[in-house]
Amino acid sequence: MAVSDTGDGFVAPRTAWHRSALWDLASAYLRVGGLEAWDSNTVPSFATSNVLSARRFARLLVVHARWHDAGRPFALLEIGAGHGLFAAHVLDALARHAGAEGQALYQRLTYVVSDLSAANVLALTARDYLRPHVEQGRVVVATGDLFRDPPLVAAAERALPERFDVIVANYVCCAIPPRVLKREGAAWAELEVEAEDRGESYAGGTLGGLMARLDVRFAWAEAPLDALVDDPLHRAAVATLVAPWPVPRWSIPSTSSTRCATAWRRCSRATGCRW
Ligand SMILES: C[S@@+](CC[C@H](N)C(=O)[O-])C[C@H]1O[C@@H](n2cnc3c(N)ncnc32)[C@H](O)[C@@H]1O
Repeated sequence: MAVSDTGDGFVAPRTAWHRSALWDLASAYLRVGGLEAWDSNTVPSFATSNVLSARRFARLLVVHARWHDAGRPFALLEIGAGHGLFAAHVLDALARHAGAEGQALYQRLTYVVSDLSAANVLALTARDYLRPHVEQGRVVVATGDLFRDPPLVAAAERALPERFDVIVANYVCCAIPPRVLKREGAAWAELEVEAEDRGESYAGGTLGGLMARLDVRFAWAEAPLDALVDDPLHRAAVATLVAPWPVPRWSIPSTSSTRCATAWRRCSRATGCRW
């Protein structure tokens, strides 16, 4: 996204949200801010990283593990793990709430907790809810980018499993980055944003300080659905899913569904994953 600092201000012209300077700032915040995003609840995560969702996932893992040799080590990769709380809940659910099969799986499990942000990943190992697992070697932390090759690099001095039995990403589509769309009657539109700061040139400081100074304006740009969603299958799914709602608004990864699927497949191949 072209941003000009003209000496008397910062100007980010109007463009779609996923291509905007504001999106770049938001994703830079996740990349460098470590766990502050979760500690301050700037990224709300209770709906996606709670005990109940983790117990359901643990039950799914137990069923999946029945297809594997009972004694063989089992390796799980989580992509975009953020604060790592989902991983902690899943480990607890396996150890204490998924019966004898859950306990057996827990004993032979290596859970790789990965995120795009190296700052996140390093901070994670000090968290009370993960540290004991890291010390026991059950959790290994790594930096990992779904769209990079290789997708995974161990962050601490621990070897990564050679292959994975399961890969999971929880609440990561919205970070891919998303386009925000809406439908009103027969008209479809995409959210656009522009930002301006006519104050003194920005020279360092906090992201919050910069955001507070910006004059941010949002607007909807009408466009046919064909132009908003490139993949025909994805387009049909969107049209069907939003049909019952009077004025639906939703976010979709800007990366086409085909590219997402390719990234998943590549990541699975690179990590030897079968699921
Ligand atoms: C909305 S947060 C969700 C975090 C966590 N899973 C939770 O439930 O709170 C999205 C996470 O995805 C990570 N992320 C963004 N783009 C990624 C990419 N291309 N590959 C891997 N992780 C990514 C971000 O750093 C962030 O931690």
